[in-house]
Amino acid sequence: MKIISIVSAKGGVGKTTLSANLAIALARSGVPVLVIDLDPQDALRLHFSASSTATQGLARAALAGVTWQDAMLNTSSGCRLLPYGSAKESERMDFEQMLRDHPRQLRESIARLNLPTDTVVILDTPPGPSVYLSQALTASNTVLIALLSDAASYATLPLMHSLLQQYCLNRPGFDNYAYLVNQVDNSRQLNSDVEHLMRMQFGARALPLVHQDQAIPEAMACNQFVGDYDPLCRAAQDMKAVCAQVLDLIRLNDRVAA
Ligand SMILES: Nc1ncnc2c1ncn2[C@@H]1O[C@H](COP(=O)(O)OP(=O)(O)OP(=O)(O)O)[C@@H](O)[C@H]1O
Ligand SMILES: [Mg+2]
Repeated sequence: MKIISIVSAKGGVGKTTLSANLAIALARSGVPVLVIDLDPQDALRLHFSASSTATQGLARAALAGVTWQDAMLNTSSGCRLLPYGSAKESERMDFEQMLRDHPRQLRESIARLNLPTDTVVILDTPPGPSVYLSQALTASNTVLIALLSDAASYATLPLMHSLLQQYCLNRPGFDNYAYLVNQVDNSRQLNSDVEHLMRMQFGARALPLVHQDQAIPEAMACNQFVGDYDPLCRAAQDMKAVCAQVLDLIRLNDRVAA
């Protein structure tokens, strides 16, 4: 089993969109996928047309002391979804306290799901430092740092690197991290300049770029995977390339481990 978290210090860079589209792209390539929403916004389910009442969600299941098995949903797109759920404010606070008290709870809860060994688990996280982010970093084999190609995202890199240092690097079981630059708009010079700077700095850790494409919000509004909504659009092609490279990353790690 491989656990991949999608993280960012800054909000609104596309973590949830990328998590959903990567999960579906991986599932379509034949990999068993579970995508988990660790964000109290509970927005990941919107990409899968799952209603907030369809399940109790992971926060309430954890508070009730039951396995997350019953909170998992099968989606029509081929991957399984574990939503955060519509927890009340007091439940959210209790759940966060529980996570603070048990720093490995996420990892252990995923292990208890007894997923097939070739499953890829994708974790969507809220922006910035939080108990969800530390749990996700502690549980992950691979971390994908999502960014926009702008100065504000670039400025958050030292924070992400210090969190990686604290929770991932040198931890047994941690494989690697990579950068996922989203919403690239090559028609804007500043955007292209920052993107160029980032690619120089990230080197082999840079995943293929995802361009800004109206097809992404349109696909979501139609409850569709961007690759189904418009298979020839830029974002669909980009997601295909990202999926292929993520698969390479996972297989490369397996070869190194063997
Ligand atoms: N490549 C893209 N092209 C166009 N729009 C995009 C792209 N990626 C994401 N978006 C849009 O950007 C907005 C923010 O995306 P999303 O909610 O996935 O970000 P997020 O990082 O999960 O936000 P948060 O930090 O609040 O969790 C959404 O409206 C989404 O449709
Ligand atoms: Mg999000």
